[in-house]
Amino acid sequence: MRLLVCGGAGFIGSNFVRLRLRESEDEVVVLDKLTYAGRRENFHDFAEDPRFHFVHGAIEDPEAVAAVLDGGAAGGAPVQAIVNFAAETHVDRSISEPDAFVRTHAQGTYVLLEAARERDLRYVQVSTDEVYGSIEDGSFTEDSPLRPSSPYSATKTGADLLVQSYFHTYGLPATICRGSNNYGPYQYPEKLIPLMILNALHGDALPVYGDGMQVRNWIHATDFGRAIGHVLEHGAPGEVYNAGGPDECPNMEVVKRIIELTSADESLIEYVTDRPGHDRRYSLSSAKVRALGWEPRVRFAEGLEQTVAWYRENTWWWEPIRSGDYRAYYERQYGRSLA
Ligand code: NAD
Ligand code: DAU
Repeated sequence: MRLLVCGGAGFIGSNFVRLRLRESEDEVVVLDKLTYAGRRENFHDFAEDPRFHFVHGAIEDPEAVAAVLDGGAAGGAPVQAIVNFAAETHVDRSISEPDAFVRTHAQGTYVLLEAARERDLRYVQVSTDEVYGSIEDGSFTEDSPLRPSSPYSATKTGADLLVQSYFHTYGLPATICRGSNNYGPYQYPEKLIPLMILNALHGDALPVYGDGMQVRNWIHATDFGRAIGHVLEHGAPGEVYNAGGPDECPNMEVVKRIIELTSADESLIEYVTDRPGHDRRYSLSSAKVRALGWEPRVRFAEGLEQTVAWYRENTWWWEPIRSGDYRAYYERQYGRSLA
């Protein structure tokens, strides 16, 4: 199948493309705006694959989307299905600068849906457990109420509702796959795990929000990628599928484990002001996608160890980030400089 992967230059999207090239016969076209989080470096090991094509463009640009869908932009045949990863994804940035979140999630998703409707294409929206809000006990199912807390999750929820309206109103064969917290190689170091790994390796402070007892349901990016592939191939149109990781862990335990794996000092831990509106716990029930035959393969303990090793070994990937604009972001967010 010829697949359009929007946002494929980011963390999960590039891991997904790598998997599809390795494990399917798909031809993959990536459309990506290359924001600070989208990087050509993420294609380094498959850029020359003849089944891979890259187009630089935004999902909110109808002409760019039409050109890529009809085969013009990537010099090939028309696309048969769209998987949309394209998003602004950092909750802290959505609190300080929400405008790009509204543009990409609302207008961008709308442009893709219209283009899919005109061509009757299969469509998968990649979404998040954050649309359900926080849960004290138990796990969210696909029928749980939507109670997003941040501009990030509210705009992702809006996009999901628009996708569902295109199924109900126009019969677009669309599905939604909601993942829990992803981790693994190629994750931009603004997110908890890579931030803590790189700071620990450099002897920088490890900034823990609030009491550090917030719980996240960790899923390796390859497991989420396989779940999305499963939903693309076996999901029923109009349905939502949750894909949660096999393990939950409070942030403080994650940080302490990273300290052990990097041989850093516990005195680097620094409690900082909590994130406004911080969700306490996420937990997803994945029974519905498991019934389609998917299950996660990577346990958190093993995946975290591999992830630390990947960042240790791939300085070429993160050095340009840590010496570039990221430094200014870090100073704004944390009120201190990196080493
Ligand atoms: P990321 O920030 O690493 O990558 C996002 C990608 O989208 C980048 O390549 C960026 O350049 C691209 N992009 C942004 N705006 C665009 C636009 N207007 N047009 C085209 N491309 C654009 O994000 P990620 O962590 O890989 O997340 C991918 C998707 O998975 C998102 O939809 C996110 O909501 C969802 N998700 C993420 C997680 C997580 O833990 N990271 C968990 C569940 C779901
Ligand atoms: O749950 C899925 C979501 O997971 C995705 O939809 C988002 O795109 C993704 O960014 C992620 O959101 P979180 O807010 O959970 O991830 P983040 O890595 O920003 O934070 C994880 C937890 O760690 C959260 O409780 C906040 C805390 N934290 C984070 C940072 C960056 C800290 O304590 N210190 C930090 O410096």
